[in-house]
Amino acid sequence: METEIVLSSGGRMPVLGMGTAAYPVPEPELVEAAIFEAMKLGYRHFDTASLYQSERPLGRAISRAIQTGIISNRSELFIATKLACFDAYPGAVVPALRDSLNALGIEYVDLYLIHAPMRVRGEKRFVFTMDDVMPFDSVGTWEGMEECYELGLAKAIGVSNFPIDKLKLLLSHAKVHPAVNQVEMHPLWQQKELRELCKEKGIHVSSYSPLGGTGCFWGNREVLHLKEIEKIAGDKGKTAAQVCLRWGLEKGVSVLPKSFNKERLQENMDIFGWTLGEDELQVISLIPQLVEDDASQGLARPINSCINV
Ligand code: A2P
Repeated sequence: METEIVLSSGGRMPVLGMGTAAYPVPEPELVEAAIFEAMKLGYRHFDTASLYQSERPLGRAISRAIQTGIISNRSELFIATKLACFDAYPGAVVPALRDSLNALGIEYVDLYLIHAPMRVRGEKRFVFTMDDVMPFDSVGTWEGMEECYELGLAKAIGVSNFPIDKLKLLLSHAKVHPAVNQVEMHPLWQQKELRELCKEKGIHVSSYSPLGGTGCFWGNREVLHLKEIEKIAGDKGKTAAQVCLRWGLEKGVSVLPKSFNKERLQENMDIFGWTLGEDELQVISLIPQLVEDDASQGLARPINSCINV
């Protein structure tokens, strides 16, 4: 299996990336050290977001990696970041990306995503209430994303957490089609219908929290303890995490596991050079799915009820 895919924008993206979202937000030194360790291990794709506060630590790790010769220049990396819901309105998109680039210390990102089809009022923060959710201007916000692309500040643009209806609306007005839809995806939330639509439209699906996350705001910690996954892992001499990640690759998505632990970062790289059998894929496909409202510990709810202007 290829370790990279080609996006509709023409750029190449490694199918394994390091996720950097953690809550509560850890000390920046810890995040930087984990990312630097990942670079030493061979990770070349990093997923950050303005909301995660991991852009600055990632930027410092990039500088260190260049200084120490781990990479020879920035172009060896694939860097994705996201437009926070707090900046998801016309006029705010390009300045928000410039802030992100400044924090990252780089001139362009390989991928810029709308973090969610939602605008939220107030200061940037992980926790907000439904009262803070504002109407989302899909047309005007996407035009801002297209401007980022045309200016060369983002080599590809896309979306995150877009369910089918919001994606269809975007496609109805987008001049540049989104290259990626990054969504929570794991054996308990397989996103089958959404993946089919994305395939039909040439949109690559990227999976965040492929291990079920921390179960705090999003994700579900049951994923790594599902009896079906544990059985397959035991049979193959792999870990449950490796089976979940390999399953994602076999479904054609890229996977973005987050770990700030050296051993687990290493473990999460051993997902190439072996396969899951048809029978094993079938067993996973039959795992009962979370209903959408519960699937992301509440994130799906504000997104679904968010209206468009
Ligand atoms: P840690 O950072 O201490 O390794 P996800 O990528 O699905 O969002 O999951 C992230 C969570 O899974 C984090 O709590 C992370 O903790 C943990 N994690 C990452 N890799 C593994 C692994 N190989 N086995 C078990 N837990 C893991």
